[in-house]
Amino acid sequence: MAYNLLKGKKGIVFGALDDQSIAWKVAERCVEEGARITLTNAPVALRFGKIQALAEQLNSIVIPADATSVEDLENLIDESMAYLGGQLDFVLHAIGMSLNVRKGRAYTDIKYDWMQKTFDISALSFHKLMQTLYQKDAMSEEGSIVALTYIAAQRVFPDYNEMAESKALLESFARSFGYHYGKKKKVRVNTISQSPTWTTAGSGVKGFKTFFDYADTMSPLGNATAEECADYCAVMFSDLSKKVTMQNLFHDGGFSLMGINTAFFNETE
Ligand SMILES: NC(=O)c1ccc[n+]([C@@H]2O[C@H](COP(=O)([O-])OP(=O)(O)OC[C@H]3O[C@@H](n4cnc5c(N)ncnc54)[C@H](O)[C@@H]3O)[C@@H](O)[C@H]2O)c1
Repeated sequence: MAYNLLKGKKGIVFGALDDQSIAWKVAERCVEEGARITLTNAPVALRFGKIQALAEQLNSIVIPADATSVEDLENLIDESMAYLGGQLDFVLHAIGMSLNVRKGRAYTDIKYDWMQKTFDISALSFHKLMQTLYQKDAMSEEGSIVALTYIAAQRVFPDYNEMAESKALLESFARSFGYHYGKKKKVRVNTISQSPTWTTAGSGVKGFKTFFDYADTMSPLGNATAEECADYCAVMFSDLSKKVTMQNLFHDGGFSLMGINTAFFNETE
């Protein structure tokens, strides 16, 4: 059901690769709620992903950008404002990639040049994006910026590897930049800490099924789906959350505050 929450709003959605991607669902939801958007992804992802089909479905365009390149980000923002006709009301950062995870390197045997690349793609890209938006004065007053994160920033999930530090850095950038953007233009910056979700990035983590099932059983509401994450993003982009900023918002069915759940012991309550 649509509520017209984003009627007349304009935004950029990063990270839609295929129809499993959380960003794919966010893009669909934003348009359903009345927004107009541009879509973006790394040039390499455009070749093997399905983002062009999404653009056609949503009457949108795809503007390629490697999120680690400030030049690409500048071009993306310029082209998005030209296409959408003015400043942006919301931006979704949904980017994550770890070379050490992808190549199966253990946390105790990290390749540091890969680790730096991981930080650049998964965390620095968020600062680069916000700094480029800020310097171009590309966000409208009371706009909203959201990045997706995971609870491994706070707790130890051994197989999440260097992505844990990437997410800690990402969340810190949201707090620090949220201060500056709030002072300058009342722009909100938040991270949404999402449940394990079956996507290309998610299922690339070793033992993902165990992550997923454990969180699902531990959470009183069960894991949050990608569609439910899209609903939450729409609220965060809407005018209904204007004073929420610099937060890490758990969207995890209650997982983050659980200690023990009797479901693990087959006990009835
Ligand atoms: N899937 C999960 O379990 C889960 C849980 C919590 C948070 N998240 C986060 O959600 C976000 C979206 O991931 P997803 O799970 O939908 O997986 P996904 O694989 O569908 O999306 C990751 C995206 O990052 C893009 N990307 C990688 N390198 C890039 C670059 N240099 N420039 C631009 N884009 C680049 C990929 O092309 C892809 O579209 C990520 O930040 C991820 O860490 C995922």
